[in-house]
Amino acid sequence: MQPTTFVQQLVALSGIRDGDTSRTLIAAVVAIAVFLLTAPQGRRCLARGPAILLGLAALPLAAAMLFPEEAAAGDAADFGARFFVLAAFFQSMVLIALVSVWERLARSPSAILLDVLRWLAVAASAAIILGEAGVEPGTLFAGSAVVTAAIGFALRDTLGNVFSGLALQAERPFELGDWIQYDANPAHIGRVVEVNWRATRVITLDEAFVVIPNGQLGLASIRNFSKPDPWSRRSLFVTTPYAVSPQLVQEVILEAIRGSFGVLDHPTPSVVTNAFTDRGVEHWVRFFTTEFDKRDRVDGMARDRIWFALARHGIEIPVATQQVRLSRLPAPVSEPPEAAADRRDAMFQRVGLFAVLDETARQRLAASAREQTFAAGEPIIRQGAPGTSMFVIETGRVAVSVADERGGTSHLAELGPGEFFGEMSLLTGEPRSATVTARVETRLLTIDKEAFRPCLEAEPRLAEALERFLVGRRAAQTTAISRDPAPAPEHDLLRRIREFFAI
Ligand code: CMP
Repeated sequence: MQPTTFVQQLVALSGIRDGDTSRTLIAAVVAIAVFLLTAPQGRRCLARGPAILLGLAALPLAAAMLFPEEAAAGDAADFGARFFVLAAFFQSMVLIALVSVWERLARSPSAILLDVLRWLAVAASAAIILGEAGVEPGTLFAGSAVVTAAIGFALRDTLGNVFSGLALQAERPFELGDWIQYDANPAHIGRVVEVNWRATRVITLDEAFVVIPNGQLGLASIRNFSKPDPWSRRSLFVTTPYAVSPQLVQEVILEAIRGSFGVLDHPTPSVVTNAFTDRGVEHWVRFFTTEFDKRDRVDGMARDRIWFALARHGIEIPVATQQVRLSRLPAPVSEPPEAAADRRDAMFQRVGLFAVLDETARQRLAASAREQTFAAGEPIIRQGAPGTSMFVIETGRVAVSVADERGGTSHLAELGPGEFFGEMSLLTGEPRSATVTARVETRLLTIDKEAFRPCLEAEPRLAEALERFLVGRRAAQTTAISRDPAPAPEHDLLRRIREFFAI
């Protein structure tokens, strides 16, 4: 019963029960002083919290002085001041119990526990003061289920972080100073520098400060490089030529890294043959280090040692090798130019228009013709475009269409092998009178104006034959465009052709 009596005496002395603010103030000041005297070095700064609360107690008293006549203002100020003083007292008691006593006797309490108990001290003070003022604290929350739900919803992440933080403290998967991988990304590694009620803070090797909410950390699978032992394993991969015995290489490597910066003798380093690659035999070098924060330097210096040792033994680190098989491909079969000219001449023999030409003229025309192939749907010539060549269809099919006066398109004709088009612009120099589109893949023999001129000069009947075609096609065009049943015949076409070719 003695401790209870002691606590009761303490409470009675502090004036908590009888609502005496001045006695509570004295108790708070004494508690802060006791904490300052008993706290371990470096922990005294924790007294800042209760000291600030004591300072805040002056505010409601000062506010009450503005309304000297109002009795209610005086009462409210007294309750306010008492709340802060009481909170300072309770916080100091928490600090004395956890820091001055427990930390000295056992181990240092977690930051989260300290934070939570300090906030509970404030909450307990508020509950007591509200009770003294005749307000039942429970009714504040029970009064409105909606408000309670809203507060709970707003605080759910914060509360989640607090509970995860408490779970982390209880489970202790890491301590301050441990190197941890804090999520699935292997690059996310840092040294734990703080765990508070909301988040855990780590500093990465790049000296970046990362704050990880405790809730997130509670879900992640944490990899601790500093636990259970203070050392962690490092892996290096070294490739050597197939010609060198793996046994020899492994002995050389083990000898090389022995005593290298950060490489521990125990646990013992080891090397195993890891793979046969296109560069050679890959060796997996495993060793342990306690210098996790300097791991890049540890790895680098071990690699340097390995390089020099291999060089001393005449063992090369091979570059990528590949077996390449070369074989001579058969030369592509191309048609000889004479054979192509004969093929074109054979096609021209099928063109009725060229029947008036003698063999020499026709063969010359075939020799100078160019070959072009168009894909199905590709426009070969467009109405209105300039043009100085005509085309003989060797294979495939084309459609001839013209824009009519109503803004639509009229289909004029479909032409196939042995037929020709484009003669109108070639003979008169006028823009293309219609659009010609390949229906299927189409191979054309193209005759340019300069290749055509000698034929016209040598054979006057060619111009006359062409004129007949032109007249017929133009008549069909005029009918299609204007639906005029009797198009006006053209009489001067032959003269215009001769003028255009200056013959
Ligand atoms: P050109 O005017 O140079 O370009 C479009 C070509 O379409 C034209 O020459 C003729 O060769 C061809 N063409 C125009 N009208 C017809 C038609 N009614 N029938 C067949 N082909 C035509």
